[in-house]
Amino acid sequence: MDISVIGCGYLGAVHAASMAQLGHDVVGIEVDVPKAELLASGTAPFHEPGFETLLKDSLASGRLRFSSDMADAAGSQVHFVCVGTPQKRGEYAADLRYVESATESLTDVLAPGELVVGKSTVPVGTAARLAELVTGKVPGALLAWNPEFLREGFAVQDTLHPDRLVYGLPAGTDGDTARALLDEVYATIVADGTPQVVTDYATAEMVKTAANSFLATKISFINAMAELCEATGADVKQLADAIGYDDRIGRKFLNAGLGFGGGCLPKDIRAFMARAGELGADQALTFLREVDNINMRRRIRMVELAREVCDGSLLGKRIAVLGAAFKPDSDDIRDSPALNVAAQLQLQGATVRVTDPAANENIRRSWPQLEVVETAEEAAHRADAVLVLTEWKQFRELDPVAFGQVVARKAVLDGRQALDRDTWVAAGWSYRALGRRAG
Ligand code: UGA
Repeated sequence: MDISVIGCGYLGAVHAASMAQLGHDVVGIEVDVPKAELLASGTAPFHEPGFETLLKDSLASGRLRFSSDMADAAGSQVHFVCVGTPQKRGEYAADLRYVESATESLTDVLAPGELVVGKSTVPVGTAARLAELVTGKVPGALLAWNPEFLREGFAVQDTLHPDRLVYGLPAGTDGDTARALLDEVYATIVADGTPQVVTDYATAEMVKTAANSFLATKISFINAMAELCEATGADVKQLADAIGYDDRIGRKFLNAGLGFGGGCLPKDIRAFMARAGELGADQALTFLREVDNINMRRRIRMVELAREVCDGSLLGKRIAVLGAAFKPDSDDIRDSPALNVAAQLQLQGATVRVTDPAANENIRRSWPQLEVVETAEEAAHRADAVLVLTEWKQFRELDPVAFGQVVARKAVLDGRQALDRDTWVAAGWSYRALGRRAG
């Protein structure tokens, strides 16, 4: 099929290359000209395992191209809208201006019978509004909502082998036509037996925000338990293992530590609360405010723990921060808990050295006040404390004996429960982690 993908950020770029991989002819439309050129040259503008290979393969097959001109989307049977919906400045609500303007300008090249597919995360009610816009300007065109559940670090795998397909469709025969087109786009994925949920716009939009809210709640739940563990002397890691054996609960997303960040979970729960308020249903989601509070408290507690380890004062202390991306296998520093902690330590008088296997360039650009170095050893040189704040494999596998030679004091704070406490303690380190006894 001929497909266009409007917006080639994280979601769109991976989606475009994946659709070409599935055998479609794809044009990615990206208004940021340098980014479109980078993609067209086969270079990934962000760190994502497997993406650059997929991009190069798809370009080489001749089935993928990029453009900054919306006119090049003309003639595609299906148009995916993949632009961002960031949090509005100073408000909880999502900023819909990119989705609205992308859809609006798409209608200039859209023809009857073509399908617009929204993939961006939007407040419930948006799809119905955009459907009116689309059909109002181009009678006979269709709109569907097909949320995306990819995780950074696993984006290619999640796009080519999703655990479900959700179609939010218009009523009646338009819905049947839209479904047939989506099934054709995803023929390979459907043939794999991937579960499909075929529903209305509102449910499809809510599936996405409900899923992210549930994940955020699960993380904050275990972090609330970590607070209680600190008060009682219990161990949150063992607690998570033990409750996780109950398959109604499950062990995934029960890793206590610095909490969630990134471009999705924090802004999505806030936008969900804002939308519930607009709908007069704010009480239903007041618990998400607490989920957010618990999450933000983790960062403050980590700074306190660092101060404790530094004998009550951060002034003039050398602190190594290992990890700055909001999660491993990503260079994304949006709302990164690790960087937030690093910046607070620096503001409170510590000399902070940060290193991250993928995000160093992004930190230098966004946080010029932080000293960024290339290796864990450089960061830890003569350090009074080492903080592991993003659980990259490189940091998990550090040898505590050799690493102990470079620091001034063998004090490690494990913000992601990434290290084996016993091995580090055996190598003479004092070990601290949120929700766990000191070792
Ligand atoms: C999240 C969802 O997991 C995806 O399903 C969704 O498609 C995506 O948002 C989106 O809306 O686009 P992502 O932001 O890539 O994906 O990151 P997650 O893997 O969900 O991790 C989010 C944060 O939670 C990270 O900072 C991570 O360190 C933290 N986390 C995760 C924990 O603190 N504990 C855990 O047990 C798991």
